[in-house]
Amino acid sequence: MGLILGIESTAHTFSFGAVSSDGVSVLPSHSSLYRPEEGGIHPREAADHHVNSSRTLLEKAMDDWGISGGEIDAVAFSQGPGLGPCLRVGGSVARSMSIALDVPLIGVNHCVAHIEIGRRMTGCSDPVLLYVSGGNTQVIARASGRYRVLGETLDIGIGNMLDKFGRAIGIPFPGGPIIEKKASEYVKENGPDRILDLPYAVHGTDMAFSGILGAAISHANRGEDHGLVCHSLQEVSFASCVEVGERAMALTGKSEILLGGGVACNKRIREMTQTMASERGGSAHWPDWRLCIDNGTMIAELGRRMLDSGEATKLENSAIDPSLRTDMTPISWS
Ligand code: ATP
Ligand code: FE2
Repeated sequence: MGLILGIESTAHTFSFGAVSSDGVSVLPSHSSLYRPEEGGIHPREAADHHVNSSRTLLEKAMDDWGISGGEIDAVAFSQGPGLGPCLRVGGSVARSMSIALDVPLIGVNHCVAHIEIGRRMTGCSDPVLLYVSGGNTQVIARASGRYRVLGETLDIGIGNMLDKFGRAIGIPFPGGPIIEKKASEYVKENGPDRILDLPYAVHGTDMAFSGILGAAISHANRGEDHGLVCHSLQEVSFASCVEVGERAMALTGKSEILLGGGVACNKRIREMTQTMASERGGSAHWPDWRLCIDNGTMIAELGRRMLDSGEATKLENSAIDPSLRTDMTPISWS
């Protein structure tokens, strides 16, 4: 059985994943994460990391899956959105492999890939997607052949906000998982009731996170218990996402909500989403955490769906697009 290979390189993560061409098997991704020594991501350094890790990573992945180049039926890659220098590495690897193996090339929309792997793994069919990652925070639903963005952050992504707060209190990148741990340890000892005053920013179906970031840093600088600040930050910022998710469900009449993106690894946002969905008689879904964070497998899965509906990318149309939007990709599959 042949495989569709997926290559992810939008930002920090360089990853190879695969699904079988018949859609039956989903293979685990092999990923390498660029971690800046200090400060935020430096696109060129991240791109260098991707170049340096690509060969070993691919060899390890193919070894683990037990396949040879001849079993790769098509090569899918993240065409956008993301950081230009990083996307370019994935694009070049994908083009070279497609030419060398003489198989179709499929440029995919990274945000749509988060949705499709979630639908595939959880079995939900027509969800509202709460896409909460480092760079993106969007509420998305399918309508008239596109995934439409119904609401989104007006400033920074929720994950970037968590990472920036982490950096301000001395937590290395990525801050989200450690913030979750500090918050849950705090709640175990003190209970969930006390929440610090933080600005809650929902504007219609849009959200904003820079105000809450500044206020949380001030609380920490004033000597508040970091566990309490982490707990408060999660409660307030996650509540705004879940509120917009609920509004989108009410507006579209859809009964399923699907979490995707790295922040969807967080147990508390899952729990809040679950509570909201059950209260409205709907259902909440999320894939395994390895498929919530950026990964090559989701790129392969979207590539498979596109190929099945007759879509491949000609070499001359395979340039990366750092500002590709979720709603720019026509959905030709069911
Ligand atoms: P995108 O290109 O889609 O914006 P990304 O480059 O931000 O993606 P992801 O792997 O989707 O990459 O998400 C990474 C983000 O997820 C980081 O900001 C990280 O802190 C956050 N994150 C990961 N695990 C958790 C967690 N348990 N709780 C909260 N945030 C988390
Ligand atoms: Fe992502």
